Amino acid sequence: MPVCRRKVTVIGAGNVGATAAQRIAEAGVADVYLIDVVPGLPQGKALDLAESAPLQHHDQMIVGTNDYADTTESDVIVVTAGMARQPGQTRDDLLFKNMGIVRDVVTKAVHYSPDAILIIVTNPLDAMVHVALEASGFPRERVIGMAGVLDSARFRSFIAMDLGVSASDVTAFVLGGHGDTMVPLPRFSTVGGIPLPELMKPERIEELVQRTRTGGAEVVALLKSGSAFYAPASSVLHMVDSILNDRKRVLACAVLLSGEYGIDGLVVGVPIVLGAAGVERIIEVALTEAERTALNTSAGSVRSLVEAMEKAPQQAPA
Ligand code: 2OP
Repeated sequence: MPVCRRKVTVIGAGNVGATAAQRIAEAGVADVYLIDVVPGLPQGKALDLAESAPLQHHDQMIVGTNDYADTTESDVIVVTAGMARQPGQTRDDLLFKNMGIVRDVVTKAVHYSPDAILIIVTNPLDAMVHVALEASGFPRERVIGMAGVLDSARFRSFIAMDLGVSASDVTAFVLGGHGDTMVPLPRFSTVGGIPLPELMKPERIEELVQRTRTGGAEVVALLKSGSAFYAPASSVLHMVDSILNDRKRVLACAVLLSGEYGIDGLVVGVPIVLGAAGVERIIEVALTEAERTALNTSAGSVRSLVEAMEKAPQQAPA
């Protein structure tokens, strides 16, 4: 496999961070620096991953560290640091704790990598993109939330399982915030190019839409401790690969809107062209009245989190 010496920093060596580091290195997309506050944790996981390189046939470096100076001149920084959801918790319950953590780690990381592209994974996702935009001072093209790729992957998987077809042949489209109000759009979902509504009854589609909305909670309830990490890590790899290889993939990502879809100053999941410059274009599609109402409801729940953060006292990092 060809080796690629570009540099990705993954902040947070928990399940999502360590699995994202593994996926990125094993795909031969970049060298990975895994950083965490816990002494030894990123070093141990990075060493373990590095020792699997001869068996996985790649030559990427995987380095664990507690020192942001080691992350200097990263091309992409993936922020996974923060508390994960526990059973009974919503993503929004994590708001104040993770707000302090994300502000702290982003401020430190961008000091050493002022030209990087930030991918935010920490929940509540859309609100944390707002925090990262403010802490970094970066333009919206370089601060991108990972949610729609995961939500679309879940919807695609559920459709594929239901129809007994390859998930690779299913496309899906999810708009809105990464929460229970997200807006999967069945009429833009296809199976081998055939619109989903041609193949599935409306009631069944609605059940799968609802399962997608609660897809994160379904995994949390099964695990009983912690939340999903394999599919989130795969979603991160997709985004990193599209940026570093300038693939210009069309992916649903959480970005700051300034008038698109009639929304201004809020981070919401929309389809974008993701390439070497980060968000290269936001794709706008005409929505039906019902879809627009659902998107506005979803944007409204992001707005209430942003307003709660604005009113909150500054939290010390955990
Ligand atoms: C998920 O959807 C926890 O937001 C994460 O699995």
